[in-house]
Amino acid sequence: MAKVLEIVELGAPVLRERAKAVEDISNPMIQNLIDDMIVTAKEASGVGLAAPQVGHSLRLFIISSYSNERYPDAPEMVPVPIINPQIVSCSEEMEKGWEGCLSIPGIRAPVLRHRAVKIRYFDREGQEFEGILEDFVARIFQHEFDHIEGIVFLDRLKDNSEIITENEYYKLFEDEEE
Ligand code: NI
Repeated sequence: MAKVLEIVELGAPVLRERAKAVEDISNPMIQNLIDDMIVTAKEASGVGLAAPQVGHSLRLFIISSYSNERYPDAPEMVPVPIINPQIVSCSEEMEKGWEGCLSIPGIRAPVLRHRAVKIRYFDREGQEFEGILEDFVARIFQHEFDHIEGIVFLDRLKDNSEIITENEYYKLFEDEEE
């Protein structure tokens, strides 16, 4: 049975390491980790979760965009395990968008990301995929890819004055809905 894993937070050394490639995708330990990460992301209302965030320095993450209380405008998709990913190319066009991180609870900031990315990765059956992601899902991919490089979204900010608390972030959405 899949179980909810502990999410480590900023200060945990594993979040600052460059993660290692997954060598044997079919290994039951990897398959179980994928199942556990899907359940953990859902439980925490995360739209993405990288293996280092649950203490494993591996090039593996989950993208699980869906509308929830943390990201009300997120598009719906089934959770996709992304293994040994590469960013093949990026759009020149950049876009700012709000991000938060389960490993940095309580704060949000607008992060400049490529609007679209061409990516390559292996799925949990070991099959290679290539595709283009855009907008919010491209943002999640870039955020999670940073995690396996030992980078967190705060490192991407040019100006700390743009950091806000989660409480203030929710107020922004309340204002929009009025
Ligand atoms: Ni994160």
